[in-house]
Amino acid sequence: MKKAIYPGSFDPMTYGHLDIIKRAAKIFDELTIGVLDNRAKTPLFSVEERVKILSEACKDIPNVKVESFSGLLIDYAREKNFHVSIRGLRAITDFEYELQIAQTNRLLSGGDLDTIFLTTSLEYSYLSSTGVKEIASFGGDLSKCCPEFIADLVYKKYNVKNPKFRREGN
Ligand code: PNS
Repeated sequence: MKKAIYPGSFDPMTYGHLDIIKRAAKIFDELTIGVLDNRAKTPLFSVEERVKILSEACKDIPNVKVESFSGLLIDYAREKNFHVSIRGLRAITDFEYELQIAQTNRLLSGGDLDTIFLTTSLEYSYLSSTGVKEIASFGGDLSKCCPEFIADLVYKKYNVKNPKFRREGN
């Protein structure tokens, strides 16, 4: 069985992530989304919330599982027997950072963990979790960025109203 891990912070999940998930799930028999629990950072959503959001967003993709991990990716991969890590590449600006992670993981794992890059679909190449948070914090429109249930959760975190309802005068 061909299986892979798609690690990330997913704070929050965007349509760009979902695009990579759907395409990787077609290539591999089983795809596990590994949500990083990084205690050194203060994410907008707790790791439990992010796992729940991803599980909901992927509930109709049968070969996708969502888990959290902490520590080094190579240790988690070794424990769970993953030999392939999936990452999305949006633009050349991602490349240096991604190359560094991929090379480090290959080196630290003794060649046991390889990285496969999927190029993000062009329509999502502008998207980032950081951008989503900034747009939401100013009450901007997230309808092209992430599923509506996620947008609602992000607005709630910033205590702002979904602009859709503002337009409708509710
Ligand atoms: O969504 P992100 O924040 O770009 O994902 C980055 C991630 C989670 C893939 C990376 O930070 C990671 O794997 N962190 C776990 C710690 C680790 O293994 N570091 C060594 C590789 S540099």
